[in-house]
Amino acid sequence: MSENASIESVLQETRTFPPPSTFSAQANIGSEEEYQELWQRAKDDPAGFWGDMAQNLSWFQPYESVMDGDMPNTKWFTGGKINVSYNCLDRHLETDRRNKAAIIWEGETGETRVLRYQDLHREVCKFANVLKGLGVETGDRITLYMPMIPELTIAMLACCRIGAVHSIIFGGFSADAVADRNNDAQAKLVITADGGWRRGKEIPLKAAVDASLEKSPSVENVVVVRRTGGDVDMVPDRDHWYHDLMQGASADCDAVELDAEHPLFILYTSGSTGKPKGVLHTSAGYLLGTTMTSKWVFDLKEDDTYWCTADIGWITGHSYITYGPLSNGASVVMYEGAPNWPDEGRFWEIVEKYQVSIFYTAPTAIRAFIKWGDQWPEKYDLSSLRLLGTVGEPINPEAWMWYHQVIGQERCPIVDTWWQTETGGIMISPLPGVTPTKPGSCARPLPGVVPDIVTEAGESLDANQGGLLVMTQPWPHMLRTLYGDHDRFLETYFSTIDGCYFAGDGARRDDDGYIWVMGRVDDVINVSGHRLSTMEVESALVAHDKVAEAAVVGFPHEIKGEGICCFVTLKGDDGTDELKKELIQHVREQIGALATPDQIRFAASVPKTRSGKIMRRLLRDIAAGRESTQDTTTLEDYTVLAKLRAEEE
Ligand code: WT7
Repeated sequence: MSENASIESVLQETRTFPPPSTFSAQANIGSEEEYQELWQRAKDDPAGFWGDMAQNLSWFQPYESVMDGDMPNTKWFTGGKINVSYNCLDRHLETDRRNKAAIIWEGETGETRVLRYQDLHREVCKFANVLKGLGVETGDRITLYMPMIPELTIAMLACCRIGAVHSIIFGGFSADAVADRNNDAQAKLVITADGGWRRGKEIPLKAAVDASLEKSPSVENVVVVRRTGGDVDMVPDRDHWYHDLMQGASADCDAVELDAEHPLFILYTSGSTGKPKGVLHTSAGYLLGTTMTSKWVFDLKEDDTYWCTADIGWITGHSYITYGPLSNGASVVMYEGAPNWPDEGRFWEIVEKYQVSIFYTAPTAIRAFIKWGDQWPEKYDLSSLRLLGTVGEPINPEAWMWYHQVIGQERCPIVDTWWQTETGGIMISPLPGVTPTKPGSCARPLPGVVPDIVTEAGESLDANQGGLLVMTQPWPHMLRTLYGDHDRFLETYFSTIDGCYFAGDGARRDDDGYIWVMGRVDDVINVSGHRLSTMEVESALVAHDKVAEAAVVGFPHEIKGEGICCFVTLKGDDGTDELKKELIQHVREQIGALATPDQIRFAASVPKTRSGKIMRRLLRDIAAGRESTQDTTTLEDYTVLAKLRAEEE
């Protein structure tokens, strides 16, 4: 955590929006009493509560106990045997859902594919057999570096069908980032595509995999889906076309009976220091959490058409495109491309075309829609929508109001869902049929979630005091460890506040018990709803031979939420515009396009404490063009600040 100044909350928002009575009347949780009862029961008797909830899953063998041991080492559903793929597919085939659309896919280029539950089941079984044929065994790690195409979902479910652990890498990451993750997980196989479409351009995924494999020798085989038809090099014996392998594959593949705590996937996320953290989720607890939160928060009904616009490469896509909705037997829209291709009306065209009823997106996207103008949503019929959601960062009240008025047409409840890669599923959110919403607040904890807001000494704070947001009780879908580094897991999440989980957000509670998240308190910036470690951008910069030192901070950015500002001290050369461009390109190559710096500022030196710690709070003020009211008494060299302010951007 950065220097210890207290957290001040400035947001004052008094508007409230009760759920429409027609919504409440049909909701999965329909009254305040019901919510209170569920929440209290889960708090007082978590084992009884989650044991009841677990009846929503299909088990091969019942568990002996619901939960064993205290946080952080709680084990869930010991003795139980389960398979996540079975729960997302096979159990639906015994019902009318077998003919229901599981995935309604639209490519950026306009084509549509619909996979019914039985189609998805068949493809998953075939691909699971393909994986077995390539020597994949239970427990092996498999990297997925793919565009948003149905084969990505198929690959995920095929992995968990045979107990292989997937590690999905967002397609915007660079070859180096893929190599790091392959190495950390010791991945045996990579599944990719020739490329993917984004804003009319081809993202060359296979070429990046080829480059990554020079640095990640654990990978033995590569499976390549043909998507764009672009030219790729296929290395004999190592690289295989998906369609060739699938051609001869049998569609008969029983789901393996796995322990409840069998690892399901690793997903890398940024921390404040060091290499990315491999967040590990396991089978039954994660599945239960995503299944129940999908029912409660998205109010899923048999006839809904549900669309989460995230990429599956992020946790939002894992939990709320694949596992949660499919476990509930929902019809899920999946879109491959950009929201502004071929024009800024694309999302609303998709809503109209498929009659989307539940729509889940990010504040950064909403800010972009506002900027593009109301004429785009106004061109389309959005009357099928009944519920809206957001995730990824605090939503500014004005963006919330726009979402409510222009997209929801004042008819749809908005669920502002707070959670993290580590929490696996939604933790704090309005219940759409119950909770009066307040623009900018994620409202109250879901059943089974017991948060608190505390000082750095761990004392609970009263209403309207900003502090650290912690979880005081374990929940089934929490991360179990950081892959290969349990000490770092304990240190990162459980060492700040005794006995509690803390993953870096500041928050306050208002007089009604509503939680207002104020953002990260560590050196992590939230760019377009995704965590990026300032430290990783700094390492990328320092890896450039002209850079002596770099300090990276976030600053408020109209669309992205936070932009990336880099203060760079050079070894010798005077900074030129040319070099700025070169450094921006360099960071993109090292980490990926999502880490593209918005500002490079050359500086003679950066402000540090006498112990040598970069004083980021000061740099944040400079990057944002604010006067600083921060304490500077620990600053080693006062002249540095004045010089920095004087340097032009
Ligand atoms: C961080 C987690 C969970 C999927 C997307 C990001 C911020 C997330 C909200 C929200 C305020 C939010 C937090 C959190 N965040 N949702 N509704 N209101 N802040 O996952 O990359 O693990 O990032 O995103 O700062 O710690 P992630």
